Amino acid sequence: MRERSKFTILHLSDVHATTGELLYGQVDGLARLRQVGEYVVAAGVTPEAVVVTGDLVQRGHSAAYENVDRALRDLGERVGAPVFTVLGNHDSPRHAAGLTGHMQGHYRATTVGDLRLVLLDSSSGSLDPDQLVWLRGVLAVPFGMGTVVALHHAPIPSPLPTLSKIGLRDPRLLAHALRDSDTRLILAGHYHHPMNGLFHGLPVAVGPSLAYHQVMNAGPATVSGHDFAMFSLVQVTADQISTAPVSLQAGHPLFSTTVPPLTSTSHR
Ligand SMILES: [Fe+2]
Repeated sequence: MRERSKFTILHLSDVHATTGELLYGQVDGLARLRQVGEYVVAAGVTPEAVVVTGDLVQRGHSAAYENVDRALRDLGERVGAPVFTVLGNHDSPRHAAGLTGHMQGHYRATTVGDLRLVLLDSSSGSLDPDQLVWLRGVLAVPFGMGTVVALHHAPIPSPLPTLSKIGLRDPRLLAHALRDSDTRLILAGHYHHPMNGLFHGLPVAVGPSLAYHQVMNAGPATVSGHDFAMFSLVQVTADQISTAPVSLQAGHPLFSTTVPPLTSTSHR
């Protein structure tokens, strides 16, 4: 039975799905979406929501949206949770219009149980004035356990010199819109390396990428990618937030021991 007081988000980002050819000859975003579903079910994790923070397809591969949409619906059925997407700089708002959940634009607010999700469209690199006005209106009324805001471009910079200036353009506008609201957490992607931080006092969880990861020591003028697929498990309760990055690739376990089920009074 699911714990109602604990809200688990399966946070995926930067799928970079392609059609016709695999990304860099070997990365299959659609296959990785299937792998995530298998992994999460095997782990016994039962998320309340799946949030995908953009770059659903690789730029120029807009024909992949149909397959991405199907793969995300399959993933949602597999893990038993609704799937929500935002768009990244590789995404095409026009071609993404066929995605499940697309409204007049690709930003919207929804609720899952006691939590509100606000999904923003930063595919242009910034949040346009209409969206910011809409956001302030949505957040004017608090909801339940609070709000999780999801967008592609993180409002805080990456520590890598090559990525330090590619975050959300003019993040002060977002800070202004979120001020005094019930926002608990900001989920983002874009950097292809996991990162946690604070933005005007609000926790920011930059999810790892499902497609490839930054070679962190590639050099001050070089961007390079490892073939390494990760996602994140985010937990929100009334008074706690945690993020746990998980890698799809792993070696053989060093050990394996069966453990008895935990009771509310037992400690491990
Ligand atoms: Fe990306």
